[in-house]
Amino acid sequence: MNAHTPITDSFLDVRNLTVSYPMGRGLSVKAVTDLSFTVARGETLGLVGESGCGKSSAARAIMQLPRPSGGHVRLAGTDLTALRGSQLQRARRQFQMVFQDPMASLNPRHSVRQILSAPLEIAGLRETRAAREQRIIDILDRVGLNGAQSIDRKPYEFSGGQCQRISIARALILRPDLLVCDESVSALDVSVQAQILNLLQEIRQEFGLTMLFISHDLSVVRHVSDRVAVMYLGALCELADTDAIYARPAHPYTRALISAVPQPNPDIAPAPLQMVPGELPSPMNPPSGCRFRTRCPSASEKCAAKVPVFRQIAPGQSVACHHPLTAPV
Ligand SMILES: Nc1ncnc2c1ncn2[C@@H]1O[C@H](COP(=O)(O)OP(=O)(O)OP(=O)(O)O)[C@@H](O)[C@H]1O
Ligand code: SF4
Ligand SMILES: [Mg+2]
Repeated sequence: MNAHTPITDSFLDVRNLTVSYPMGRGLSVKAVTDLSFTVARGETLGLVGESGCGKSSAARAIMQLPRPSGGHVRLAGTDLTALRGSQLQRARRQFQMVFQDPMASLNPRHSVRQILSAPLEIAGLRETRAAREQRIIDILDRVGLNGAQSIDRKPYEFSGGQCQRISIARALILRPDLLVCDESVSALDVSVQAQILNLLQEIRQEFGLTMLFISHDLSVVRHVSDRVAVMYLGALCELADTDAIYARPAHPYTRALISAVPQPNPDIAPAPLQMVPGELPSPMNPPSGCRFRTRCPSASEKCAAKVPVFRQIAPGQSVACHHPLTAPV
């Protein structure tokens, strides 16, 4: 999809999502704090931020794996956080995830047939054995693997890129509406990354997918996303149309991330995000006021005293900052 694709409604609605991990002795780490955003049907939202900022925690909470500590996740109007047992199991057909490490996310003892049968069995799909076999072969063919030749093989017989194609086939076999990709190309060589990204673009169109695309690689995110959300220390700091956020970042953290993007070099895989100067504070003890203030060149007294409200400053651009870099219009 591109900037001209019409965005019609809010399909995924994440409201005040909070994820806490108990650390013992009554302490906990808040990996995600009050995260709210929406994604329209057919839209791809990119989610970026440094390592440890809470991207995967947010993704897992959206998938209800495990459930969030607080907040709501609505998909096509259904509050996933309110569903129990079999209701949630049935709803899972609609939302699927592709993880970072394809080898680790596929059971090495299982054949591709077993791997792709699992979601069908969990969903309780009633069909003949021949129909199931054909369904598996068809989806393998669609993701660029020869289905008939691949179905009896095991993950170790495939390359990393091919394993990621199997993971994508597993995610797609129940024809979901929402696909969450958590660093789904980050572990792959740059040339293989491009192939998998192309595949994701094709299936997005073909399956009419809504996507949450998480990556530390801002170049990749720019390429695939309609809008981009930036997280810092568990909280959202900016969300804007892709063109606007790269051309006119309003949050000092977004600007620091974007200015740190290296020039594209096909021979060098992008390094994990650690390129903003200064040390990332502990999420167990975030700074008062604005979380970014200990690293922000524009920080003022107000920034230490008051949490900045997330607000729209221009059409298609919202930011949580007392002194945004672009003037509100
Ligand atoms: N199971 C867990 N138990 C305790 N703390 C956790 C757990 N998972 C994540 N965390 C902590 O929560 C914070 C957010 O981690 P998370 O993995 O969500 O970040 P991320 O943005 O996905 O990072 P990366 O880019 O490295 O994948 C970090 O401080 C991390 O140490
Ligand atoms: S609120 Fe203040 S410290 Fe935070 S990003 Fe804006 S200027 Fe920097
Ligand atoms: Mg992660």
